[in-house]
Amino acid sequence: MTAPNKSPADSTVIMTELVLPQHTNALGTIFGGVVMSWVDIAAAIAAGKHCQTATVTASIDALSFVAPIRLGHVVELKACVNAVGRTSMEIGVRVDSSNLITGEKFHNVSAYLTFVAIGVDGKPQPVPGLTPKTEAEKRRNLAAQKRRQSRIELAKAIKGES
Ligand SMILES: CC(C)(COP(=O)(O)OP(=O)(O)OC[C@H]1O[C@@H](n2cnc3c(N)ncnc32)[C@H](O)[C@@H]1OP(=O)(O)O)[C@@H](O)C(=O)NCCC(=O)NCCS
Repeated sequence: MTAPNKSPADSTVIMTELVLPQHTNALGTIFGGVVMSWVDIAAAIAAGKHCQTATVTASIDALSFVAPIRLGHVVELKACVNAVGRTSMEIGVRVDSSNLITGEKFHNVSAYLTFVAIGVDGKPQPVPGLTPKTEAEKRRNLAAQKRRQSRIELAKAIKGES
């Protein structure tokens, strides 16, 4: 039986972290690898909520550090499935931070990752379809499809097949 389609809201994850001294560099801002680890975890949870099987990170397709994240700030990661292929899912993750004392808020990171659902046989397995409902979900779905297409074309071009 085919699993019913899900919406991006079904996979939405909100994860909160506090930037501690062990997360920071000599400038008092966060190490990129720490944020990348949090991004990967938030995306993995979103992927797992969508397909309800084990998943692996196939690729981090894009990750932009827009602004530094500072010691003592609270970090909020928001992740959801933007689009699905047959066995893969693109997860979008937005990272914002805030200074609880001043109330200032910052947009710090945007990232797109591809996760693949893995069956009990250890092989990629089909994922449920995705029905974007809101205008924002539809826009993100279209953008994700374009990123997938350009990733496939780039891989072909590198192999000299285009
Ligand atoms: C990701 C992985 C399962 C893909 O396996 P594979 O044998 O190449 O599988 P397929 O060729 O059948 O591709 C399966 C899906 O993965 C996608 N995929 C494969 N390689 C990819 C890559 N580098 N980037 C994005 N998507 C990729 C394919 O497009 C396909 O998607 P679709 O079914 O939606 O069209 C495999 O490469 C793997 O296990 N990699 C290691 C994962 C890992 O250890 N991650 C870190 C820890 S979680």
